[in-house]
Amino acid sequence: MARDNDPMPQSHEYDVLIIGSGAAGLTVALNLPEHLKVCVISKADISSGATLWAQGGIAAVLDDQDCTENHVQDTLVAGGGLCHEDAVRFTVDNSKESIDWLIRTGVDFTRNTDTGFHLTREGGHSHRRIIHAADATGHAVSTTLTSQAQARPNIELVSNRVAVDLITNRKLALPGNRCVGAYILNLEDNHVELFRARFTVLATGGASKAYQYTTNPDGASGDGIAIAWRAGCRVANMEFNQFHPTCLYHPHAKSFLITEAVRGEGGFLKLPDGSRFMDRFDKRQELAPRDIVARAIDHEMKRLGADHLYLDISHKPAEFIRHHFPTIYDKCLELGIDITRDPIPVVPAAHYTCGGIVSDERARTDINQLYVVGEAGFTGLHGANRMASNSLLECLVYGRAAAADITRREADIPPAPDAPAWDESQVRDSDEDVVISHNWDELRHFMWDYVGIVRTTKRLQRAKHRVDLLSREISEFYSNYRVTNDLLELRNLVTVSDLIICSALQRKESRGLHYTLDYPGLLPDARDTVLIPTTYRTSSP
Ligand code: FAD
Ligand code: SIN
Repeated sequence: MARDNDPMPQSHEYDVLIIGSGAAGLTVALNLPEHLKVCVISKADISSGATLWAQGGIAAVLDDQDCTENHVQDTLVAGGGLCHEDAVRFTVDNSKESIDWLIRTGVDFTRNTDTGFHLTREGGHSHRRIIHAADATGHAVSTTLTSQAQARPNIELVSNRVAVDLITNRKLALPGNRCVGAYILNLEDNHVELFRARFTVLATGGASKAYQYTTNPDGASGDGIAIAWRAGCRVANMEFNQFHPTCLYHPHAKSFLITEAVRGEGGFLKLPDGSRFMDRFDKRQELAPRDIVARAIDHEMKRLGADHLYLDISHKPAEFIRHHFPTIYDKCLELGIDITRDPIPVVPAAHYTCGGIVSDERARTDINQLYVVGEAGFTGLHGANRMASNSLLECLVYGRAAAADITRREADIPPAPDAPAWDESQVRDSDEDVVISHNWDELRHFMWDYVGIVRTTKRLQRAKHRVDLLSREISEFYSNYRVTNDLLELRNLVTVSDLIICSALQRKESRGLHYTLDYPGLLPDARDTVLIPTTYRTSSP
């Protein structure tokens, strides 16, 4: 029963509810017409997602020496034969227009003294095509889009609101297959509110927090993927977790990335004895696609029993280094590493979720009026391994496509039907939060050990056994106690980890980011791993 001093549960109604305020969510919001009432929610600060931390930049065909076909082919090669070529072409064809929109919006990209914007290089790219704002591109994008959204009277930006679950016709026992909004936990008063909307957009980012070591900020717990899966959406290619080769290795630096652009501008990977090694793994050496570089580092670390290797750019002029990488220079200096003189200690860490909620070119999902944009989605662009700097591009291109589709359809979509308030009558406050912190640690630990860069069937089965136990425990916890952000994140992480493990167990080959010692070869046909909630049951809560 509701308690006497509980506030009345609140109910809100919008034309468009956007869950997530990273590059994807804000791009959708800013491209919608101003007569629509739009709400963008974020589970922490408005700038709390991965977008703020993006370093290297955004890939696009912007140089006369480059062309669309080059970008398409590079993406297809990096993707290990699994990219959907139509999605790749759609993204690349729309890349220049999307960057032009960002420039018009006010993002201050780094310029060349003579020829317009400076373009850097990253792994897998045959040309210089990464537009960037020094080594803090995400900060420039996030702050610019946020201030533009704040200035729009039709857009409400609301922080500290956590989406718990979607509300669909199916849940309301109504005919049709429509999303009508979501239940949202208000972290300021710890009550779940009802948000009804004609259109709902999931822009909740990735799931790299499933792993013990990650470049991602707190909050990358795959909420949107788990929420959509529970609501009945298909999820694809979850086995392809990208591990970034170079995360700073330092006891006082949590999840700090050393951008691939350091290698693009001439940085070398080195063993503890100072020798280079990448030529033993790939002729593109330091600029091979990420899956290859991360595996090479992992291999050398295991061979030598080393807990990290090095990335060294100190042979370049100090002024060049400080100019191109001011954020990394300052951060490392703070920790006693002068990158103009010293090599940087690095390790691979979980970085990007290539799989996600299945969507089409308009960012529509399997549920009507539900869209997904950004890292939470699966468009087919990334295949078995995302090429560097194609992610922010995907947020922009599909964010604009989603907004265009909503704009085209909105006159025909009636208001969302009524829905019941969140029912807390059967639950109480938890007196055992230790269960959550313990299970959280355990999950991230075994995902790192058993579902990491190099897999085996036995390790995956071990992980599956453990995730099943955790699922049952969390399910019971969820049924008995009031929801908190920690509980919701853990519940979602368990679901997403289960999806990753089940997908990895299904893939009987090594392709792109999925490498298993039991099936080291490539199958002749490249197939997506598509999980369907109605026919395929994982043991998630
Ligand atoms: P995010 O930016 O992660 O935003 C997610 C949003 O969803 C946040 O607002 C969050 O609060 C909200 N949210 C999540 N769950 C909920 C919930 N349950 N309820 C309410 N809100 C919720 N890509 C590139 O292309 N180029 C780069 O240079 C680059 N560098 C990177 C560097 C780092 C360190 C990292 C971590 C990633 C980098 N990437 C880069 C990847 C890229 O930044 C991300 O893929 C991209 O920013 C994802 O954007 P998004 O809008 O989908 O999600
Ligand atoms: C980086 O700057 O190395 C990250 C780029 C990306 O993830 O696309």
